[in-house]
Amino acid sequence: MPFSTIIDDLAERGWSLQSAFLAHDVTQKLADECRRRYAEGTLAPAGVGRGEEQAVREGIRGDHIHWLEEGQAEVCDAYLALMDELRQTLNRELFLGLEEFECHFALYPPGAFYQTHLDRFRDDDSRCVTAVVYLNPDWQPADGGELRMHLADGSSLDIPPLAGNLLMFLSGDFPHEVLVTQTDRLSLTGWFRRRPVDVLAL
Ligand code: OGA
Ligand code: MN
Repeated sequence: MPFSTIIDDLAERGWSLQSAFLAHDVTQKLADECRRRYAEGTLAPAGVGRGEEQAVREGIRGDHIHWLEEGQAEVCDAYLALMDELRQTLNRELFLGLEEFECHFALYPPGAFYQTHLDRFRDDDSRCVTAVVYLNPDWQPADGGELRMHLADGSSLDIPPLAGNLLMFLSGDFPHEVLVTQTDRLSLTGWFRRRPVDVLAL
């Protein structure tokens, strides 16, 4: 079954890393789209927090983002279709009840980072599984920008943002951070969501 190692990894340890998840030409086209949008100014400094409390804080995160919408580019639509297949597989195999996938391009210019955080808001647990694909074909260890995942046993894991790598993890279980990058660091970061539980209505 396609995606079977992802399913097994998530079930056993809550995270999965797939190298070469996307073909080289696909990551190339996604990277081109991200750079083109950055150059034309459609990527905006990312905010921290939710709703009216959202604010840009470069001391917490320094990336620029652009949310994907259907119909903006063929390669983006192909990626969204692939992730929808993955969403259906996750539901079938792990009974997660995921209803949608949202994702954004992110570009971290040199010097940018993202401090340790969880991908869940205090008042909204609808983000269930995080999925990041990296778009940096020439990434070298000296470039930095690793995703550092903090595991429950106190150890940590550094994931290089190398083109085609897909990292997935349960959004509420792993604090993580993006280490300072020395060069432009491109990714497509997304979340599989279920409907938020309305605690007030319980
Ligand atoms: C995020 C995030 C990780 C990465 O955007 O919430 O943690 O490797 N991104 O880009
Ligand atoms: Mn995150």
